[in-house]
Amino acid sequence: MAGKLMRALQYHSNGGGRVGLEHVEVPIPDPGKGQVLLKVEATSLNPVDANTHKLKLLLRPFLSRNPLIPATDVAGEVVEVGPNVRNFKAGDKVVAVLGFFTGGGLAEYCIAEENSTVLRPPQLSPAEAASLPVAGLTALLTLTDKFAGVKLDGDGPKKNILITAASGGVGHYAVQLAKLGNTHVTATCGARNLEFVKSLGADEVVDYKTPEGAALKSPSGKKYDVVIQCARVAFPWSVFEPNLSQNGKVIDITAGNIRAVWTILVQKVTFSKKKLVPLLLVPKGEDLKRLVELWKEGKIKTTLDSVHPLSKGEIAWSKLLDGHATGKIVVEQ
Ligand SMILES: NC(=O)c1ccc[n+]([C@@H]2O[C@H](COP(=O)([O-])OP(=O)(O)OC[C@H]3O[C@@H](n4cnc5c(N)ncnc54)[C@H](OP(=O)(O)O)[C@@H]3O)[C@@H](O)[C@H]2O)c1
Repeated sequence: MAGKLMRALQYHSNGGGRVGLEHVEVPIPDPGKGQVLLKVEATSLNPVDANTHKLKLLLRPFLSRNPLIPATDVAGEVVEVGPNVRNFKAGDKVVAVLGFFTGGGLAEYCIAEENSTVLRPPQLSPAEAASLPVAGLTALLTLTDKFAGVKLDGDGPKKNILITAASGGVGHYAVQLAKLGNTHVTATCGARNLEFVKSLGADEVVDYKTPEGAALKSPSGKKYDVVIQCARVAFPWSVFEPNLSQNGKVIDITAGNIRAVWTILVQKVTFSKKKLVPLLLVPKGEDLKRLVELWKEGKIKTTLDSVHPLSKGEIAWSKLLDGHATGKIVVEQ
């Protein structure tokens, strides 16, 4: 592919927000050692894609200054393999998660690491496959022993779980995965999504704009053993605390503020039984493979908020920044 150009959406150097993305033609990248070149069929967007750009500007002295082509979650076809690639060949249909700081998904071609790439079955559409990586992997991680401790085979003691923003990318997978375990799931979402979230398996659903929803109360009065906090809202600890069981934990995938750090420190020095636990995803190929298996077994499905062509990728980006997606926003190439 040397010398050939591809279409892409790129952040110009100091751009940001809605106006920072521009349509460009750039050279198709070459795969290096352990990498594959993909012809991208679909890319899903995540809030982290927008945050990475802001972080990259802050860390400019330490990172590559190449303009960023955002997005990490892609489905596509292998067109070329780099040296030492053992598990893939040209023509394979795959799903992959790209590096947070390298991105590359909003383009016709991208480079993926072999160990972050997984074969996808022909029945799994590119849009659905591209939706799985960051949102699905985060949801899966929240439920593991290190965090919620829910066994996906239904074993183990019953846990009462609250999932906030259950209509979003992470939340809609988290509800489905949590219900594979021995759980009672309460979920929050907007009024328009109450039926949708029930259809994912939640036992109780609360509108987050009602007083009960804003206070994260379970309609049946249950205390939560685990809260999976996915709403892009910095709830003070005083909102979680009265709703938790004696050893209740809040797994916070949004904790990036001083208040959360302070809460964690105070809980450490006071030996609090109730805990705020921050979670940061480090994507792993083996977990992506597991998600694809769960999809094959009919245990999870993807809801698509909207699908946009690459030529209108900025509309998809605007929707991402608005924060009101039901399921996943996808760009098809
Ligand atoms: N720590 C990590 O490694 C990690 C990984 C992935 C994501 N994240 C973070 O997790 C958060 C969620 O990501 P996402 O991809 O799921 O976001 P998303 O898809 O953009 O979430 C959108 C959904 O959130 C709902 N929502 C907004 N405010 C709410 C509230 N107060 N209560 C209940 N629902 C609310 C919206 O409903 P309405 O439209 O009705 O308002 C919408 O359906 C983001 O902050 C993201 O940065 C962190």
